[in-house]
Amino acid sequence: MAKFPSEPFRIKVVEPIRRTTRRERQQILTAAGYNPFNVRAEDIYIDLLTDSGTAAMSDGQWAGIMQGDESYAGARNFFNLEETIRSITGFRHFVPTHQGRAAENILFGATVRPGQVVPSNMHFDTTQANVLARGGRPVNLVIDEAFDPTSRHPFKGNMDLEKLAAFIQEVGPENIPLGMMTVTNNSGGGQPVSLANIRAVADVYHRYGIPFFLDACRYAENAYFIKLREPGYADVPVLEIARQMFACADGCTMSGKKDALVNIGGFLAMNDEELYRRVCQELILREGFPTYGGLAGRDLEAMARGLWEGLDEDYLAYRIAHTRYLADRLLEEGLPILEPPGGHAVYLDVLRFLPHIPQSQLPGQALACALYLEGGIRGVEIGSVMFAEEDPETGETVYPALELVRLAIPRRVYTQAHLDYVVEVCRRLYERREQIGGLRYTYKPALLRHFTARFEPV
Ligand code: F0G
Repeated sequence: MAKFPSEPFRIKVVEPIRRTTRRERQQILTAAGYNPFNVRAEDIYIDLLTDSGTAAMSDGQWAGIMQGDESYAGARNFFNLEETIRSITGFRHFVPTHQGRAAENILFGATVRPGQVVPSNMHFDTTQANVLARGGRPVNLVIDEAFDPTSRHPFKGNMDLEKLAAFIQEVGPENIPLGMMTVTNNSGGGQPVSLANIRAVADVYHRYGIPFFLDACRYAENAYFIKLREPGYADVPVLEIARQMFACADGCTMSGKKDALVNIGGFLAMNDEELYRRVCQELILREGFPTYGGLAGRDLEAMARGLWEGLDEDYLAYRIAHTRYLADRLLEEGLPILEPPGGHAVYLDVLRFLPHIPQSQLPGQALACALYLEGGIRGVEIGSVMFAEEDPETGETVYPALELVRLAIPRRVYTQAHLDYVVEVCRRLYERREQIGGLRYTYKPALLRHFTARFEPV
């Protein structure tokens, strides 16, 4: 039986959650157009939609909220955050943003021209959409193991170095304004990237004079995986590993809503002074003055404190083992999941869970809806709804290699009994999986489809 790690915290504040009946859930789901994004949070029992912005803040963070300095310019919380970000990342400049995608928007606004390409191991969907919105082309060059849900490669988020070098030569470095890497690789299952791979990727980019930015949302979880899995790092403090990761890069985008343990916030950091000046112009236009960047002073303080808490090794040991517990319990019940589990989520492998539903009938979305109907659990489809594309030449739909439902685990929020309940619901669904049917679109928006699309049963 899988072991549960005991929490390195105790609970001071609780938030009631409510169970609904199956009948209620059927009505709610129909009204929501079979898209769990449209369901009211109050009608969810266990919300595993995302680990983003859903963390329970600590008493230290809440105390920091009371010390928010709400001056328009030069609030003390900005300087506290600056010191924190400098100490952890080493980057010379940073601007706060209201969340990760705002950092992406501003970075690409300052760097990407129409027709240019931005490679990564795998872009997250907002990153991909922000590159596209500037007329650029996002390209994913992760190793092939990432697409094999049963491969137990320890660093399935790694970039394929040969593909990267060949790609740069093919399109020409002058058409690549920056190169990226997502740590951990969310779209590929929350899989980590090794430090050796980050170093090698940086070398390739830098050999061609291409600036290298990390999408660092889950950098602390990634650093902890390096400690656990990469030879030579078992005794290196996670903070030191994180510093080594950032030292390879020229900057990063960050959603503080993940490893900075806040409900809102992010930042964009970089070394290049000239880029920083252009970023400030764009920031003032879109987010706010450079010492608050779309956040209140109190939010800056919560993020500064959360960044340190997110690097705490007792917390990280619990966090990674908590996720692993859910994965191990599901495996014990014989359910198909993406292996090994990532840091922030367990991903159900839908092509093995529902092999009778073709991708044209959106099996991932169908499973996400079934989870809600069966147990009031909200997960998110990461599959054909999120990523299927039309081939511009043939007009045919190209389906993604992986069809997943992500059960993302909010930080410091749910207990073992909650996770055991999730396992029980998944097990019941798996037992009667052939009764689950496919879906079709009734509304299909052009960009970031999964957030607002609507469906009906086939
Ligand atoms: N990059 C990655 C790897 C992400 O996972 C996210 C958000 C972002 C960028 C954008 O950050 O939400 O603060 O604007 N991921 C959330 C998720 C939404 O559910 O995985 P944001």
